[in-house]
Amino acid sequence: MNEAKDITSYLKHYGFFFPSAEIYQGLAKSWDCGPNSTELKRKLKDLWWKCFVTFQPYNVGSDSLILTHPRVLEASGHLKNFYDWLVECSNCQKRHRLDKLITAEEFTSFLAQENKQEFSISQNCPSCDKNKFTNPRQFNLLLSSDLQITNQEKKNLVYLRPETCQGIFINFSAIQISIRKKLPFGVGQIGKSFRNEITLHHGIFRTREFEQMELEFFCSLEEKEKWWEYWNQKAWNFLTSLLNDKNKAQKKALDQEELPHYAKKTTDLYFQYHFGPGELCSISDRGDYDLKNHSEKSGEKLKVEGITPHVIEVSFGVERLMLAILEDAYQEETIENSKGEKKREVLKLYPLLAPYFVAVIPWKKSLREKAKQIYQKLLTEINFSVIYEETDSIGKSYHYQDAIGTYYCLTVDDQTLNDETITVRERDSREQLRFSCQEQELSQFLNQKYQECWKKLIKI
Ligand code: GAP
Repeated sequence: MNEAKDITSYLKHYGFFFPSAEIYQGLAKSWDCGPNSTELKRKLKDLWWKCFVTFQPYNVGSDSLILTHPRVLEASGHLKNFYDWLVECSNCQKRHRLDKLITAEEFTSFLAQENKQEFSISQNCPSCDKNKFTNPRQFNLLLSSDLQITNQEKKNLVYLRPETCQGIFINFSAIQISIRKKLPFGVGQIGKSFRNEITLHHGIFRTREFEQMELEFFCSLEEKEKWWEYWNQKAWNFLTSLLNDKNKAQKKALDQEELPHYAKKTTDLYFQYHFGPGELCSISDRGDYDLKNHSEKSGEKLKVEGITPHVIEVSFGVERLMLAILEDAYQEETIENSKGEKKREVLKLYPLLAPYFVAVIPWKKSLREKAKQIYQKLLTEINFSVIYEETDSIGKSYHYQDAIGTYYCLTVDDQTLNDETITVRERDSREQLRFSCQEQELSQFLNQKYQECWKKLIKI
């Protein structure tokens, strides 16, 4: 297995991620999406939606609010149970997540220990190398806001949801009645979630604001095992079909003491990032935990066919999946040509995830008008992303388009003026073919390639 490279500065340079509010020395360790990752992210979410909702006969979609009533999170157990153990270094005031500071075995025995205040940490502070820690304390990860209308009013507390799925659980009956579905059925949702993480790490890997793509699949207890297997396999296939090196993906079944408070069992999917293995998807058997608790606390009946369904959940983090895909796609190659050896950096992204599937490039300045015409025509003939790149050097254009992962570069040259043909260069092989722009020959070729990529993924 090849180790992935830290490509943070590369991603910044090529317009994938920018530090948020950088011109004001802004929010620490927070990132905004630049133009290229905005495209990638939209495409990734679209792929997930197609694979987990549109092409699943049992499933429908939902889009619930980020702002969450405190009673929802009281019922879901997040007010009480959604915390990490925090220690602070009394010497340098650095805060640490206890489970990341000590070994897994030490953390397990810490959890088992009755008097947590008496736990002694053998490791030194990674920042100042001193061993002067405060006692461990629970740190709730919920972020809140205040809906007060004037400054005088009492605080009107709301939470920013820590997972998107609670919106699905509280709307369970409304959804089920409106779609007239019996069991089993699933509800997918994509959206922002917020957690007040103690430490923020590795660029977009751990942040306070992030997006999740979640599927909550409702079924009977009798059928649960079958669906557990089915969704585990789907999640695994989805992840690995987007990677070049599938060996960088791993599964891990959590031990009992590692389970989140709502889960009966959980399998996490990991990717081998440049800093080591990191979780990017969590698949849980949530049993009837959520619906039962919401039903009890709200007094509403959250049942179908007379039973409280059980839930299998698949929860992908969008940014973590993007980071995995980008680290996996990044390659440095040495190319030999008539002028000797040349290095190229290329993102070998799954073609449907490339920020642009196609770029139209004029070979030289005098061909810009012709290239623009071809670009305009293509826009009416294909329905995937195409960009027009105006440049003085075709070499620089190829270099840039490879670096951001564009799948096909279409080059308009002198011959185009004579016979309306155009060069199509494929990103990975750099193979060049010539197609006519007339009679839709070119667009048919591109459409066919695009559809082939789709078909591969839909079969997962
Ligand atoms: N509803 C289940 C749930 O939220 P989770 O394991 O807490 O499960 C699911 O989160 C996924 O959300 C994770 O696998 C990860 O990809 C993403 N995620 C969680 N916390 C994150 C954070 N602070 N920054 C970025 N992604 C995060």
